[in-house]
Amino acid sequence: MLSTTYLSLSLSSPLVASASPLTGKLDTLRQLEDAGAAAVVLPSVFEEQLQQETSFMDHFLDANTESLSEAQNFFPDPTLYEHKSDLALEKISAAKASLSIPVIASLNGSTPEGWSAFAKHIARAGADAIELNLYDIAADPSVSSSELEERQLNTVKEICNAIHIPVTVKIGPHYSALANMAQRFEQAGAAGLVMFNRFYQPDFHIESRTTSRKLGLSSSREMLLPMSWIAILRGQRTLDLAATTGVHEVDDVIKYLMAGANVVCSTSALLSHGPEKLTEFKQGLAHWLDENGYNDVDELRGCMRREFVDNPELFERANYIKLLSSYPG
Ligand SMILES: Cc1cc2nc3c(=O)[nH]c(=O)nc-3n(C[C@H](O)[C@H](O)[C@H](O)COP(=O)(O)O)c2cc1C
Repeated sequence: MLSTTYLSLSLSSPLVASASPLTGKLDTLRQLEDAGAAAVVLPSVFEEQLQQETSFMDHFLDANTESLSEAQNFFPDPTLYEHKSDLALEKISAAKASLSIPVIASLNGSTPEGWSAFAKHIARAGADAIELNLYDIAADPSVSSSELEERQLNTVKEICNAIHIPVTVKIGPHYSALANMAQRFEQAGAAGLVMFNRFYQPDFHIESRTTSRKLGLSSSREMLLPMSWIAILRGQRTLDLAATTGVHEVDDVIKYLMAGANVVCSTSALLSHGPEKLTEFKQGLAHWLDENGYNDVDELRGCMRREFVDNPELFERANYIKLLSSYPG
């Protein structure tokens, strides 16, 4: 009844545990699987970490080659230190060995330069798919939107060309033309989109004039933006859509599926209530489908999608005007 296909992977349900500290350890990964996670996304490896390691290695090799003639074939003993990237690969292999559900690795980067080769190692380590997180805040006034978009598309292309496992792209909502970007991500080779990254918005302490770095968890209210966009894109595109942000109740799972999400991801609710929250989602979804006469989750998926109309922009503006005038007054 709940079985779902996502990124060409067969899942027992549409419920995915998204990247968080819970997916970073084997014991909690097992708890997530036992509670009903149909797939897990491991915590991200960051482009900056990989670049730092590469430049550290280059520096190390250069220094030794210049100073010691016998160092021509010198290579640092890998047992002397452990790279974060090596640890990440080990974690992928360990997760694959101890879980029977698909394991999705996550890479966080925004430029195509070189580090995408790491994606090959991820695939070799056994990951079933890669989630590429494009966390990009366009704060540099000298970088235009088209430059930034080209850079992102090239990153996606480079990774998709490098590996044979599916790549899904975790994006933010802040594009001038999101429907067009979704189309271009698909053309660049992405098998799916994960919507949306939460934009880190630090608060201020007014007395100490410092910035608060506390990572707040989400609320159900925050799901309205991704849900609206999933409903719009589901009417236009066939690539897979994963909903992330604001899933706290079974109703939230149902709404995202109605919008057209292939899978629904959860982090904040699992951090607050423990992995067993997934069991509540799974049982609640099955119960609701049964009560409402649905044979399976595919029948429900996309029933609230925004059908493609000839002039989508005009349609959205008309909806906006209607919404404003509906306020009692
Ligand atoms: C503590 C914490 C760590 C996270 N780590 C990652 C990460 O490594 N990579 C990533 O793509 N998202 C990460 N996220 C974002 C979540 O995967 C998820 O997309 C986001 O929290 C929205 O979902 P939610 O409303 O269910 O929390 C993290 C979130 C939290 C709260």
